[in-house]
Amino acid sequence: MTPMNPNWAELKKQPFGQYIPDEVLQYRSDEIERIIAWARENPLPLPAEIEIGSNRGCFLLGLTRGRRDVSFLGIELKLGLCRIAMRKLEREGLTNGHVIHADAKLALPVLFQPHTVDAIYVLFPDPWWKRKHARRRLLDDSFFETAHVFLKPGGFFVLKTDVLDYFDAVEEYLKSSPCFEFVDISEVPGSDSWTLSTRERHCLEDNLPYKQLAVRNLATEASELPKTTLIDKKLVKHNYSYHPDEHKNN
Ligand SMILES: C[S@@+](CC[C@H](N)C(=O)[O-])C[C@H]1O[C@@H](n2cnc3c(N)ncnc32)[C@H](O)[C@@H]1O
Repeated sequence: MTPMNPNWAELKKQPFGQYIPDEVLQYRSDEIERIIAWARENPLPLPAEIEIGSNRGCFLLGLTRGRRDVSFLGIELKLGLCRIAMRKLEREGLTNGHVIHADAKLALPVLFQPHTVDAIYVLFPDPWWKRKHARRRLLDDSFFETAHVFLKPGGFFVLKTDVLDYFDAVEEYLKSSPCFEFVDISEVPGSDSWTLSTRERHCLEDNLPYKQLAVRNLATEASELPKTTLIDKKLVKHNYSYHPDEHKNN
């Protein structure tokens, strides 16, 4: 078991302390300290947009090429993939693109002040098919509570996925949320020049259906941190399809 970090109480006093549950601060303080150290070396000028699960950087690269006046941050759990994406950005001299090796659920509140992020992209999040793994899905109630607080008023959340029951659950949740409103994808700045992510290319090549949605954040600068998004639907309790043959590892 991960030992409790003796510095967690100090981290609790930081502005992000209120957005990260105590038990996470206690046992994952080392990760948080690494994120803080990264941020010191890599200041991110605003405006900034985030891609969670940036993988090999295919989509991030397109974003970064398209708007040089915006900072784009890929947040990726796997170090090897971060290195691949960073190499691509560096080869093209794209200094407005960055990748951090971290769990986005920790990195977002540590790296940003509330109401400062212009857009969050989540492309083809890991499906976690098995019912017992459902709680590992990235897009749950707490994710959208965090997104609501850290996105600017009017900022965008974009999702693409080929896991159609995951898409339906998120869509249903967002439709009943008072915190977001649906918009046409074309309203998201830069959407006319998006490039394909690795998984999206794979879906197109194999003729696999996928869906996409975009919502605008309805927060105002005065928004309080919502303790819940005021709705009863809990994403992790949604019914999952179980695909034992197709997705043995996830
Ligand atoms: C199925 S892949 C999709 C990758 C890419 N977005 C695409 O469309 O091809 C999901 C990616 O999200 C990353 N990931 C999963 N959970 C994450 C988290 N909490 N924070 C950051 N990255 C995460 C995984 O390591 C993986 O690279």
